[in-house]
Parts: sequence; C-alpha cells; structure tokens
Amino acid sequence: MSNAKRSHHCGDLRRQDAGAAVVLCGWVAKRRDHGGLIFIDMRDRSGIVQVVADPETSGSSFKIAEDIRNEYVIKVLGKVRLRDEDTINENLSTGEVEVVASEIQVLNKAKTPPFYIQDGIDTDENLRLKYRYLDLRRPEMQKNLMLRHKVAKLMRDYLDEHGFLEIETPMLTKSTPEGARDYLVPSRVNPGKFYALPQSPQIFKQLLMVAGYERYFQIVRCFRDEDLRADRQPEFTQLDMEMSFMDVDEILTLIEGLIAHVFKGALGKELQVPFARMTWDEAMDKYGSDKPDLRFAMPLYDVGEAVRGCDFQVFNAVLEAGGQVKCINVKGDANIPRRELDGLVKFVGIYGAKGMAWLQFPEEGGVKSSIAKFFGPEHIEALKKAAEVEPGDLLLFVADSKRSVVAQSLGALRLEMAKRRKLIDPDKLAFTWVVDFPMFEYNEEEKRWDAMHHPFTSPREEDLPLLLTEPGKVYAKAYDMVLNGTEIGGGSIRIHRRDVQKAVFSAIGLSDEQAQEKFGFMMNAFEYGAPPHGGLAFGLDRLVMIMAQRDSIRDVIAFPKTQSAACLMTQAPNEVDAKQLRELHIRPSLLAKKEKEK
Ligand code: AMO
Ligand code: AMP
Repeated sequence: MSNAKRSHHCGDLRRQDAGAAVVLCGWVAKRRDHGGLIFIDMRDRSGIVQVVADPETSGSSFKIAEDIRNEYVIKVLGKVRLRDEDTINENLSTGEVEVVASEIQVLNKAKTPPFYIQDGIDTDENLRLKYRYLDLRRPEMQKNLMLRHKVAKLMRDYLDEHGFLEIETPMLTKSTPEGARDYLVPSRVNPGKFYALPQSPQIFKQLLMVAGYERYFQIVRCFRDEDLRADRQPEFTQLDMEMSFMDVDEILTLIEGLIAHVFKGALGKELQVPFARMTWDEAMDKYGSDKPDLRFAMPLYDVGEAVRGCDFQVFNAVLEAGGQVKCINVKGDANIPRRELDGLVKFVGIYGAKGMAWLQFPEEGGVKSSIAKFFGPEHIEALKKAAEVEPGDLLLFVADSKRSVVAQSLGALRLEMAKRRKLIDPDKLAFTWVVDFPMFEYNEEEKRWDAMHHPFTSPREEDLPLLLTEPGKVYAKAYDMVLNGTEIGGGSIRIHRRDVQKAVFSAIGLSDEQAQEKFGFMMNAFEYGAPPHGGLAFGLDRLVMIMAQRDSIRDVIAFPKTQSAACLMTQAPNEVDAKQLRELHIRPSLLAKKEKEK
C-alpha cells in the first residue's frame, strides 16, 4: 500500500489538471456500480469529484471499490482525465474531469448515517442537531461556516487597518444590564457568591476607553438567558467595538466602510454607502417597526384626519381618546377573498389590535366594505388621497388609543402581506440606520422606566434637563443598523460623566446605593479622565445568516442550541452529582426535595 501524501483537494480539480497524478483524501458521497465500472463521488471540504474504478486500471483496489459504502473515509491514488463531452456534469465545479483510480485505501469505515449527507435535505432539525457532526459534513453547512470564517477575517483585517486592537474581556464577571436574564456561575471559593456570564462586554470596553486604548474590538461570545427564536441563541457572537473621540457621524461612516468591506470581500457585492438613515420616530410612524424591512414599500398612512367626522364609532372613539387610525395600502389586492380578510383580523389580534377594518377599491370603481356606509364621499376622497389609492387597491385599517398597538399590528401586517404577495426580493440588500431612539421606555409591569438601549447610552445634550422630570421625552444618541428587517447591530455614544450616569440610573429607578453597589467601579472610573466615546456591536450570527440567505442563525453556528436552550448532541444542560453541588455550596430545591423523600 502506498503511503503517498494527499496532493490535491477534490473540489479543486479542473480541466487543466488533466493528466496529473493525484492523491485525494475524503469521504464517499455516493457510489454507483455500473457493472464493469464503479463511480465514486468523493467529497472533502473543497467539493466533490468523480472517481472511477475499473478492473483493469484499479487492479486489486477494484474489490475495495465494490465493498465501500457511503461516508467511508478513503484515500485515492489516480490520474485526472477529461470526461467525454456527453458525460460532463454542469452542476459540479469539477464536472469536466474525473479521477481514474489506481489504488483505493479505506482509512475508516462508517455506519449508514441517519440522514443523507447532501444539500437541501428535509430532515427533522432535531435529528440534524443530534448528529451535528454529520449535518456539518453537508456541503451547504460547510459553505456557511466557511463564509462565517471569511466574514470574521475581513472584519479583523479592516479593523486592524483602522487602528483597532483586539482585546479580550472576562467571561466570569459581574452582571451587565442588556435587558436579558443572566447566566450565573457559582463560585466555589466564595461561598454563596456568583459570577455572571457577560451579556456583552459593554462595561469592559468602556473601561478600555478610560484606559486610553482609543479603538477596541473583539469577536466575542455573549450569553443571554431569554426566550429563543430563529434569530436568537442563548450564546451568540458579537463583533464588539468601541472608539474614543468620535462623534456619531464619524462612527457610522467607519462602520459603513467595515460592512462594505465585508460584503465586497465575502460576496463580491458592492454596497452603496452611506446607508439610508431614519429616526426612530420616522421608522415607527412609517413602518410600525424600529427595524423596518425596506426591500419593499407599503408604508403606514395616518388617516385620522381623513376619517374625522365619519359615522364609524370605532374610529371616532379612538380619535376622541387621542389615539390613531392608520392603514396600509396593499396595491392591486382589492379582490382579496373574504376568508383571508377574516384571517387577517385574527392575525392583527396577536399584536393587541381590537379589530381590522378594510376598504376594497375594485378596478371598476366604487368602494366595497361592510363599513363603507359610515363614510361620506368626502371621507372616501380624503382617504384615497391620504393613502395614495388607485383603482384595484385594498386598505387595511387598525385604530387604537395606544400608538404602540397600531404600530405593532400594522407593522406586522405590512410584513405578512409582503410575504404572502411575494413582494420581497430575496437577493436585495436593504440597509438602513435607525437613529435617535428614545432613551427610555415605560415598563407597564413594573411601573417604571427602562433604558431602551442600555443605561450607559448618552442622552442628547439638549434633553439632559428632562432626565428626571420627563424621561419619556428624552432621546438618546443611539443607532441600530438594520438589514432586510433584521437588527444586525446596535450602539451609541456613551455617558462619560459621573453626574449624568447617576441621573440615568436614578431615572430607571436605581437608588444611589444600588447604583453604587452595582456600577460604582464604573462611575469611579469616569472621575479619572474618561474620554468621550461610543461604539457598536454587530450580531455576527445574524449578519452571516442574512449573507448566507438562511432563515435561522442555527444554520451558521457550528453547535447551536434548541429553542429550549439544550444541546441535543451532548445533552447539555445535564444533572450534576451531589458532591459537585456541595462543593459549590448549592442546595437546589429539587435536590432538597429528593433528600427529604429519602
Ligand atoms: P445589543 O443588545 O443590541 O447591544 O446586541 C448587539 C447585537 O447582537 C445581536 N444579538 C443577538 N444575536 C443572537 N442571539 C441573541 N440572543 C442576540 N441578542 C443580541 C443583535 C444585536 O443588534 N453592548 C451593546 C452594544 C453597544 O452598545 O455597543 C449590545 O450588546 O444583532
Ligand atoms: P364592529 O363594529 O365591531 O362589528 O366592527 C366593524 C369592523 O371594524 C370589523 O371589520 C372590525 O374588525 C373592525 N374593527 C373593530 N375594531 C377595530 C379597530 N380598533 N381598528 C380597526 N378596525 C376595527
């Protein structure tokens, strides 16, 4: 048996390699027995190439080719040859050539995998996660992780060129308020005390600015114990950045350059910079969302004035209460079936809307609706003007005394209708910055104000006097980057003065003692020459998900967790033995119950 070393990668072989002697290593993707000849699709990370075994050229290895099965690990010695014109495989990058095997070695056998190792399989995701090492062997998954590597590399290159230093911050640390629950780690040597895993490196990166590092970045894992969705994981990766002595415009420009560099390098796409910018108020008014999908139009129209004085009690009551009547115009959809309309009423109900009214404007003219009778011709004319109605259009209305209900329900309806009517071009990239967020949002449950971004975000100077009197009117120097309706990054200019930081803590209901206990070290640091600074963090998983055109961040994370924060492969989280818990000074209620039962 030859011990020749690997010379080429399967997916790299091309026309010009014809005649070359090669040594390949990889997996058997498929084996086809054509009587006299055996064809093996051989796969490695770079791709697939066809290997041919025939009794004459392959000698004793022909017998091996007869016995091998899918996913066996093999080494093939052979010669590249051009395929006949009529056997060229256009779907394969190596499709013009094949490798005639002179020797085949089985490096390892494999059991029959629980699902096909190929692209586009329709296998239960839980099975894929249980055998993740097989799932990751599929070419499309390998492509995703290679793209992820490339994106991270391009980011590092760009930031290095722009004077950023990559600096690590602790994983065992103190709670950082990013709005989620913390993952806690008990301390063995400090009985009864816990570390928190970082929800982000926010505090440390700011302290690095106080320490004079000026430009920091880190590709870093963050941990948040929150309800999971397709674009949320309990541990996820950020590209985290912070800069000193830069204003909002400078920061946004630098970051646009970074994103343009990444898209060019990884996808060959030329992005138009600067990106669009809209204020938070504008985004909420026009799209009912702080992360508007701008791949299609369908804005929200405020039609309160147009319908004022009509006989429809629902609208009148809402307007009298100071609420809003708004609608979207689904172009050319006047013939929507009644059944679908009834379904949409239920749909907006999920977002708190008490109902959904509609007006159909058939091509042949007139208005169709059960509520048409409540409107005079002047109302209909005003509505047509306000909502840019043309013959064939459909208006869908939500009215509510709460602006947030109107925004959320119509914002979601806008997206839903665009999906149903296929108005979203999957190849389009629609970037926008959303800027000037409100500093606080009211927490109805706890009857107090929360920081909308995080409490280290700087309020606008002109709003500082309102901090303690009218927090609801304070705007922040905060910005989010939105791509195709997903928030891919968020950041802000930070507070760098102790008095302002103290006032913000007080506005969100932290007493001076609590603020001192939790963040005293940080406020102290502000008294030792803290420079003005700001930054941003990207969700790397989300960004790569969109670049790879996938619907879930799980597809761009090597070993993700399920919706219930479990790893199906390793069975984490798992129970630990009582001794380990005792050492950590932990006596969980479950354990206590068991002991009592004994
Ligand atoms: P923020 O909380 O907005 O800001 O997080 C930054 C970005 O991280 C991504 N992200 C997530 N991705 C996957 N799973 C999650 N559970 C998850 N949570 C957030 C989002 C988001 O835009 N310290 C601040 C940044 C700063 O102010 O500089 C922060 O963490 O894409
Ligand atoms: P009703 O008078 O309750 O039968 O409602 C007449 C129509 O108005 C129905 O199509 C309801 O779905 C709709 N409707 C009810 N409440 C609202 C609301 N708050 N906003 C928009 N439409 C509503």
